[in-house]
Amino acid sequence: MILVTGGTGNVGGSVIRQLLDAGEQVRVVTRTDAATRASRGRTIPDGVEVVPGDLRQPQTLRTALTGVDRAFLFPVFDAVDGFLDAARQADLRQVVLLSSSAVTYSTPGWIGEQHLRVERAVAASGLPWTFVRPDAFMTNDLAWAHQIANGGVVRGIYGKSACAPIDPRDIAAVAVRAILDRLVGEAYLLTGPQSLTQIDRVHIIGEVLGKPLRFEEQTREQFGEQLLRELPAAAVEALLDILAATDGTTAAVLPTVEEVTGRPAFTYAEWVATRAADFGAAPI
Ligand SMILES: NC(=O)c1ccc[n+]([C@@H]2O[C@H](COP(=O)([O-])OP(=O)(O)OC[C@H]3O[C@@H](n4cnc5c(N)ncnc54)[C@H](OP(=O)(O)O)[C@@H]3O)[C@@H](O)[C@H]2O)c1
Repeated sequence: MILVTGGTGNVGGSVIRQLLDAGEQVRVVTRTDAATRASRGRTIPDGVEVVPGDLRQPQTLRTALTGVDRAFLFPVFDAVDGFLDAARQADLRQVVLLSSSAVTYSTPGWIGEQHLRVERAVAASGLPWTFVRPDAFMTNDLAWAHQIANGGVVRGIYGKSACAPIDPRDIAAVAVRAILDRLVGEAYLLTGPQSLTQIDRVHIIGEVLGKPLRFEEQTREQFGEQLLRELPAAAVEALLDILAATDGTTAAVLPTVEEVTGRPAFTYAEWVATRAADFGAAPI
């Protein structure tokens, strides 16, 4: 039995589907009930054992971990110790942790520091571990969906800031190979297959949807104000600093996804095509 945390999320959801495809028995721990999941479009596939639980309430994890051999761990920053204690008691054989490429930055910033703390706790737990360290997710750009569906102008800052965004299906594919092949003691740094600026990405979305779109620059203050409605101040500052630092650069593209999975990583256009409905277009 494999336990998936974060199984209603972008990466964990794909981990579940790929484990089921591989014929594995999967259990998911979630804070949400079926009706809430359905209303958020985050259903859990049939055949998965669903256990109510919360990583912040370790007493809820005992049942979830009973009879489990390996686990995919979503990094709830302040809640890893309780999970690790329960996992040790359950004699877990492998923790595959969703981490972040930010842990490798020379200045990790708030985001990198939070993930580093989780990685260190997992490494110190004595449990066999694997770290999956992705760069920016393609799904981050779903934050543009409302603007794309309503007027086609995406407002932001540092339009020429570049990253090599990755499809969560590829992050999941690497995590699943790590679980199935018991790739223990490895840290996989993952990027998507292309360096793309924000302006490039808006154009690709427009091409795939067949709709003219453009990127419009805001001030750092205007943009920061919007982000503060969704994220803690430290995370907003960290994100703004990353955008500033990558403005006018070309992002490194790594071969890790293909090396681990044996197939190329999904392109940005391929990802957009799967999410056309979210961007307000008829499914392609
Ligand atoms: N976005 C990026 O560019 C980026 C880059 C590198 C790394 N990352 C890492 O990836 C994460 C996002 O992954 P994602 O997009 O797959 O997530 P997501 O779609 O935002 O979903 C969050 C998941 O976490 C679960 N969760 C949150 N708090 C929980 C708790 N207290 N107990 C149990 N489950 C909890 C939720 O489960 P329920 O609601 O069902 O309980 C849900 O399944 C980030 O937080 C970061 O650590 C992100």
